[in-house]
Amino acid sequence: MMRTIEWHERIDSTMRRAAEMAGAGCASGTIVGADVQTAGQGRLGRTWESERGGLYFTMVLRPRVEMRDLPVVTLALGLGVADAVQMFTGLAVDLRWPNDVMAGEKKLAGILAQWHEGAVLAGIGLNVGQAGFPAGIAATSLALETGSEHNKDVLLRAIAAAVETHVKVLETSGVEAILRLFGNASSYVSGKRVRVEMAGGEAAGTTAGLTPEGFLILRTDDGRETIVTAGGVRPWGA
Ligand code: BTN
Repeated sequence: MMRTIEWHERIDSTMRRAAEMAGAGCASGTIVGADVQTAGQGRLGRTWESERGGLYFTMVLRPRVEMRDLPVVTLALGLGVADAVQMFTGLAVDLRWPNDVMAGEKKLAGILAQWHEGAVLAGIGLNVGQAGFPAGIAATSLALETGSEHNKDVLLRAIAAAVETHVKVLETSGVEAILRLFGNASSYVSGKRVRVEMAGGEAAGTTAGLTPEGFLILRTDDGRETIVTAGGVRPWGA
């Protein structure tokens, strides 16, 4: 299949441009990417620093799933990015619920999934060639982790294909298949001591699996279970 890739040297955010393209009816699998973003968007309304050296793109997907399955689509995106990175760089990665790709306790890639006019905008920011990050930011890059350079175009195509494979798994094998794959790939799903920043404040406890919708179950120290639907999860000591 021929894939349309629109590449910018510099853009405000590929999420904004992808929304336009989706609204204009672009095909599933269409990609818009940039070397630099001046207004990169992160999860939970944060900004995403998008200096030269990283791989920043948004893929428009039109999965045959219900809107309520977006949390599981999000997990499928993380699985796709993790698989492609592992396959093409040999680096072992972890997935931090819902979909941060981690090298140890440092973030290697972030993913932002949004519904827009019947399409899913899958925004992916992968740290590839950055030589360092500001103090206090627990981030790393492929260059820092592997000591070698990686071709962004090869990674882009590998990630796009792996993401589509995982979306197909969701469409054909259902939500449970993705939940199982995610549980196998992520050290965060079960038995991990974490702190979670949620709308109402911070909660601490041990993770206890995923709900059928793909949300994280947190067992707090008083024995109660809380369902985390959105929020930032950090290891206990961090
Ligand atoms: C996160 O907070 O972890 C998600 C970060 C998502 C960043 C990517 S970079 C490409 C795309 N364009 C954006 O503005 N954000 C996403």
